[in-house]
Amino acid sequence: MRITPSILNADFAHLADEVARIPGADAIHVDVMDNHFVPNLTLGLPVVESLRKATVKMLDIHLMIEDPDRWAPAYAEAGAESVTFHVEAAKAPIRLARELRSAGARAAIALKPATPVDPFADLLDEVDMVLLMTVEPGFGGQKFLDLVLPKIRRTRQLLGDRPIWLQVDGGVSAETIGRCAEAGADTFVAGSAVYNAADPDEMVAQLRDLAVA
Ligand code: DX5
Ligand code: ZN
Repeated sequence: MRITPSILNADFAHLADEVARIPGADAIHVDVMDNHFVPNLTLGLPVVESLRKATVKMLDIHLMIEDPDRWAPAYAEAGAESVTFHVEAAKAPIRLARELRSAGARAAIALKPATPVDPFADLLDEVDMVLLMTVEPGFGGQKFLDLVLPKIRRTRQLLGDRPIWLQVDGGVSAETIGRCAEAGADTFVAGSAVYNAADPDEMVAQLRDLAVA
């Protein structure tokens, strides 16, 4: 079980300090939004390059952008250990996943809540993680969508015994993480639950306990 907090709800003027507040995290989830694929704009490559110098933690980049084919490899080259692109946006997902892996990163695909997983079954051997959105991508602090739970189960079934991580992202909290784990997720993004907590690292520990319970 891996807890990968999102810095979307952190203080962007003090990112190095914000990352240092969660020593118990398995990775730092970085949400890149371009105001085209999603109706919000966050940060891009220069910030990721700076973050790379500020922490030794695994950087888990979640690209919510158009044309990931063009932009994703640069994040791997910047030293991110994992780069996730959306299947709804990628033009050549197999080629892109191979490019990310050959740049030394883990490659991952993300699916919006309404995107079915079965059409992408043949892609699974090309990736190291599948991210299932449990809210519509674009903003932190939204309500977890229970309708995604059957897709988490189905994805777990398709993955079989392959060592591919299954990540959930959106509305994950102490209240919802158990349902995700029970359905087969093993990697959990939590943004507002962690950064709105009085003690973010304590919340990371609590989420981990609830995920294994
Ligand atoms: C949403 C982002 C998420 C978001 C999660 O589009 O991909 O990573 O930051 O935030 P919470 O946990 O608050 O839903
Ligand atoms: Zn995300």
